[in-house]
Amino acid sequence: MVRVRVVHRCSSCGAAHPKWAGRCDSCGEWNSLVEELDSSARSAVTLPDAAIPLRVTEVDDEAARSVPTGIGEFDRVLGGGLVPGSVTLVGGEPGIGKSTLLLQLLGGVASSGVRSLYITGEESASQVKARAARVGALHDELWLVAETSLPNVKAHIDSVEPELVVVDSVQTMHDPELGSASGSVAQVRECANQLLKLAKARGISLVLVGHVTKEGTLAGPRVLEHVVDTVIEFEGDRQHGLRLLRATKHRFGPTSEVGLMQMSQTGLSTVDDPSGIFLADRVAGVSGSAVVPTIDGRRPLLIELQALVAGSSLAAPRRSTQGVDQGRLAMLLAVLERRVGLSVSKFDVYALAVGGVRVIDPGADAGLALAVASALTGKAIGDDLVVIGEVGLGGELRQVGHQDRRLAEAIRHGFRRAIVPGAVAGGPDGLTVMRAPTLAAAVALADVGPS
Ligand code: TYD
Ligand code: MG
Repeated sequence: MVRVRVVHRCSSCGAAHPKWAGRCDSCGEWNSLVEELDSSARSAVTLPDAAIPLRVTEVDDEAARSVPTGIGEFDRVLGGGLVPGSVTLVGGEPGIGKSTLLLQLLGGVASSGVRSLYITGEESASQVKARAARVGALHDELWLVAETSLPNVKAHIDSVEPELVVVDSVQTMHDPELGSASGSVAQVRECANQLLKLAKARGISLVLVGHVTKEGTLAGPRVLEHVVDTVIEFEGDRQHGLRLLRATKHRFGPTSEVGLMQMSQTGLSTVDDPSGIFLADRVAGVSGSAVVPTIDGRRPLLIELQALVAGSSLAAPRRSTQGVDQGRLAMLLAVLERRVGLSVSKFDVYALAVGGVRVIDPGADAGLALAVASALTGKAIGDDLVVIGEVGLGGELRQVGHQDRRLAEAIRHGFRRAIVPGAVAGGPDGLTVMRAPTLAAAVALADVGPS
């Protein structure tokens, strides 16, 4: 068998080296060499089929052909369903439920008579069958194979002729023509490239599962993000059972919709009242807690943000976050100090979003800042109050989108008062809307400032 030549390329300066070394000779960067196929071999492998130019109006509208998977929340994130010939990467921590989700999806698709193939590199076929039985995915058109060798995987796809293929996980696949171990960057990239070509050529919807590392990055799979059509991240809090699906890249539509699901004994199911789940364990009258009506895509979601401030003995006090951005917290702490007169420079600050959710909505700024202020002064924010607003460096509160929808969700969950940016006029019935042009004004309205 001919071995494909491998080079070691520096991911910092791009220089190629015949052998691996801890340090790149060209730029001096440490640990930057990654294995790669020799470019001469690679161009032969990845040369695209010839295409013909068309008028833009005549080009096939792929997105219009998306096929619903039957898992409503998955389809919501994809803006309809899977597009034939598309490649989707589903990433998430081990144990979060990727295999469960995709097995349910395949089962659903198979039950509607569409042939699908599940390739497992991590579990045995009988283990997968047991799980399929648990989640109701036992259907004749769902095919299973436990396989990790790429040529065999391709042969299985050829013999089964499925319309939908799931490879779980891409890190377990290996191409024997490459010398490196499965899971290495070169293997992951090469296996994905070959599967991708096969999927495009046959019009198969391909879903690749990728495990993420503890740091929250799609380690090996990260190198695939630019070649796949769609990247979906599966996240959540294992204890709470709540799971979020988020598209971080989607070539066929917007990436703003979030899917919400719940893990139960019979797999993942839809959640009727997500805000209710997020707020279920909230204790009234405790300082350092604020409820913010966030918007993910088009869905409003009430999320509790918590902060704790504790005296620090460290020269550089700790700033620890979970579910909220560390840089955003640092910025809010600076604004609280310089524009509101509340300094936490001698304190450790912990901030988190309850329920394992990751908050990326800037409209949550004011709530997080008020939670910190409340934690610092020990005054609880009223349990009938929600806060909306992006905080600017000048200490001003800025308007955010979909305020009406955010407030409607707050009313639905029994909130009676809202602090909103000053410039916004009007407000729905049933809610006392308080306008705060600045964060300092919001601190005063919520009564969490120093007395
Ligand atoms: P799994 O899909 O194997 O996660 P991943 O593929 O992302 O590593 O499932 C993870 C967890 O879900 C596992 O600990 C068991 C639990 N689980 C349920 O709670 N209910 C179920 O019906 C199933 C199938 C799994
Ligand atoms: Mg799995």
